[in-house]
Amino acid sequence: MRTRIQYSRASLLAPLIVASFLGISGIAASARNDKPPASNNPKWNYEEIKNAPEKARLKQNPLENDPEAVRAGGKLFERNCSGCHGMKAEGGRRAPSLLREEVQQATPGALFWVLTNGAVWHGMPVWSKLPEPERWQIVTFLKSYKPSLTPGGPGGG
Ligand code: HEC
Repeated sequence: MRTRIQYSRASLLAPLIVASFLGISGIAASARNDKPPASNNPKWNYEEIKNAPEKARLKQNPLENDPEAVRAGGKLFERNCSGCHGMKAEGGRRAPSLLREEVQQATPGALFWVLTNGAVWHGMPVWSKLPEPERWQIVTFLKSYKPSLTPGGPGGG
C-alpha cells in the first residue's frame, strides 16, 4: 500500500517536469535556426583546381580568343551551372563563387580539367557529358569576367 501512495505523489509532479522540459527544448530549437548562411561552407576550398595534373593545366584553350565562345559559354553556364553557382557565378548556398582569385587565376586547362572530372564528393558534378568544345566555351566565358588578370608589366603583349 505504501508504494501506491508514493506513486500517486510522483504522478502529480510528472506534468510539471514535462512542461519545463518542453519549455527548455523549445528555446533550444529556436536558437538552432540562427545558423549563419552556408555560402562560406568551409568544405569549399577550391582544392580541386590545384589537383589538376600539370599536363592538363598547361592545355591550351582552343577557343580562347573566340568572342562567340563567350556568348555560347554564357548560355551553357546559365543552363548547367547557375543553379548552384548563381546567375553571375557569384556563388550561393549550394556552391562557391567562381569569381574568386582561386578560379580566376587558374589556367584554362585546370578549369577544363575540373569540369571534366568534377569534385563529386564535395557536390560538384562531372561535366564530361558535355562535348569538349562546350566545356571550353564555358571556360572562355568564366575567364571573360576578368580578361586582364596578368600583371601589366612592360611590353606585356
Ligand atoms: C549541383 C551543384 C553544382 C553545379 C550544377 C555545378 N557546380 Fe561547380 N561546384 C559545386 C560545388 C559544391 C563546388 C565546390 C567543390 C569543392 O569544394 O571542391 C564546385 C566547384 C566548382 C569549381 C571550383 C573547383 C574547386 O576546386 O573547388 C569550378 C571551377 C566549378 N565548380 C565550375 C562549375 C561549372 C562551370 C559548372 C557548370 C558546367 C558547375 N560548376 C556546375 C557545385 C556545382
